Amino acid sequence: MRPFLLSTLVVAVSAFGVSANKYKPCSLDGVDIIGRLPDTITPPMAHLTLSFVTAAIGSQNYTCSPNNNYTLVGAVAEVYDISCLAKSDEFTTVQDKLIGLWKSAPVGVTPHQVTSSSPETNANPLLGYHYFVPNPLGQPGNSPKWDFTSTGALYGNEEAFVTAARFTGDTAPTGKQDIDWVGTNAIDPAGLLAAQVYRTDTREGQPPSECRFGESPDIQVKYACKYWFYGSAVPAESGWA
Ligand SMILES: *[C@@H]1O[C@H](CO)[C@@H](O)[C@H](O)[C@H]1NC(C)=O
Ligand SMILES: *[C@@H]1O[C@H](CO)[C@@H](O)[C@H](O)[C@H]1NC(C)=O
Repeated sequence: MRPFLLSTLVVAVSAFGVSANKYKPCSLDGVDIIGRLPDTITPPMAHLTLSFVTAAIGSQNYTCSPNNNYTLVGAVAEVYDISCLAKSDEFTTVQDKLIGLWKSAPVGVTPHQVTSSSPETNANPLLGYHYFVPNPLGQPGNSPKWDFTSTGALYGNEEAFVTAARFTGDTAPTGKQDIDWVGTNAIDPAGLLAAQVYRTDTREGQPPSECRFGESPDIQVKYACKYWFYGSAVPAESGWA
């Protein structure tokens, strides 16, 4: 089987889980989301600097609503550092490679299995996980969270997460088959990972347009995207683990 290896997004773990070569992120000086967003999306606050630029693969979860259409109930994804791609041409296509690999993975294969199946390198740029949690302010519904506490640069730092709410966004420039590009603001003061998180370069993740309430099962739809983290207040000092 051809290894699920992105040429430069090197994402393997060694056979015994021992990391001989720690992943080293690259400087983000001169890298910015500005100029890449459509005019309809409010850019990050000017005083915030880019802390992490990442690519993710995972699933958007939907349930069939009484309106006979699918509504989002959550998502689960793995988030990879792509700082070392940021000044290369591959930066523009990384989400295309990822969605291709992810969609060709057999049923039951997880994102982690997709990205860790190559023995070529021990460097693993997995930064963390994206999932949904109950709204931390006690409001109805679930909120998106990005959690870097358990792996990667911020391993062990309990404040290395952000739970957020959308405040800006629009249909993906690539079309309605791809989930919206959005900007979010942090809403849980306990999380210091970022003040704002943006989702761009989305690929797929949309549900079918119709369903039958009470009959259609919950679904998970694969997607890939970039997430940009602005204004982190946690130093990346603990190293990659
Ligand atoms: C589902 O249908 C309702 C009623 O037509 C509409 O208001 C709502 O925006 C739709 N939701 C989605 C996610 O398309
Ligand atoms: C979304 O679906 C995944 C399976 O793909 C599951 O592991 C996860 O718990 C689900 N999350 C939500 C909020 O539905």
